[in-house]
Amino acid sequence: MLKVVNLTVIRDGREILKNVNLEMHAAEIHLLLGVNGSGKTTLAQAIMGIYSYEGNIFFEGKNIDSLSVWERARLGITLAFQEPARFEGLLVKDYLMISARNKSMGNLENVIKMVGLPRSILFHEIGENLSGGERKRIELAAVILMQPKLAILDEPDSGIDMLSFKLISEVIKKMKELGTGVLLITHSEDMIDIADTATILCSGKVIASGPRDEVKKLFKYSPCPLKR
Ligand SMILES: Nc1ncnc2c1ncn2[C@@H]1O[C@H](COP(=O)(O)OP(=O)(O)O)[C@@H](O)[C@H]1O
Ligand SMILES: [Mg+2]
Repeated sequence: MLKVVNLTVIRDGREILKNVNLEMHAAEIHLLLGVNGSGKTTLAQAIMGIYSYEGNIFFEGKNIDSLSVWERARLGITLAFQEPARFEGLLVKDYLMISARNKSMGNLENVIKMVGLPRSILFHEIGENLSGGERKRIELAAVILMQPKLAILDEPDSGIDMLSFKLISEVIKKMKELGTGVLLITHSEDMIDIADTATILCSGKVIASGPRDEVKKLFKYSPCPLKR
C-alpha cells in the first residue's frame, strides 16, 4: 500500500534522511522505531507531502510525489502530529464532526470512549482547559473518525499525561480491524508486539526493516542503541 523508495530529505543543507526505503501493506501495523532526532517526524511529514524530498513515494501503486498535502489526504493518508494542532474556541464535537465520515453523535461518542475520554468532553471548547494528553487523545479520535486507508501516528505514546500503552495498543488494533493501515512512530520498543512489520531508523538511515520478529531480533545487535 505504501512504498518509500530512496527517500532523501535535506534541510538547512543537512541530510536528515538518507536513501530511506520502507514498504507496508494495507491494514498492516508498521512500527517506525528510532531514538529522538533519528528522522521519524521528518519521514512522516515527507510521506504526507509537507516536506519536499528526493526519491519516490508510492501509495496503492500510484506515484504521489507531485501531489499536495490535500491531494494525499484525499487519497486516504492521514497524519496525527506529535504536537497536535490547536483549534482554540471550537467545541470538541465540532472539531471531530469535521473529520468524521459517519457524522452521527453516537459514532462520536463511541470513538471518544475508545480513546479513553468522557462523553462530556465533546461539549468542551478546545483551549487552555485541555491537557496535552487530552489533546492527543482528541487528535487520535479525529484520525479514527476519518477512517483513512493509512494513518501515520507520530508518537501517540509520548507527551505530558501519557496515553497508556494498553489504550494505544487497543485503539491501533481496532483501527487495523476497521481496515486502516497504521504507520506507528515511536521511540520505545514496547509497542513492537502489536506490529506486523517494523523499521528501525538511525541517524536518518534505515538499519533494519521487515517482519516484526526479524526486526525484533536485530534490536540487541543494533548499532544505534535505543535510548529514551
Ligand atoms: N526545521 C529543521 N531544520 C533543520 N533540521 C531540522 C529541522 N527539524 C528537525 N531537524 C533535525 O532533523 C533531525 C531529525 O528530526 P526529526 O525528524 O524531528 O526526528 P525524530 O522525530 O526522530 O525525533 C534532527 O537532528 C533535527 O535536529
Ligand atoms: Mg519526532
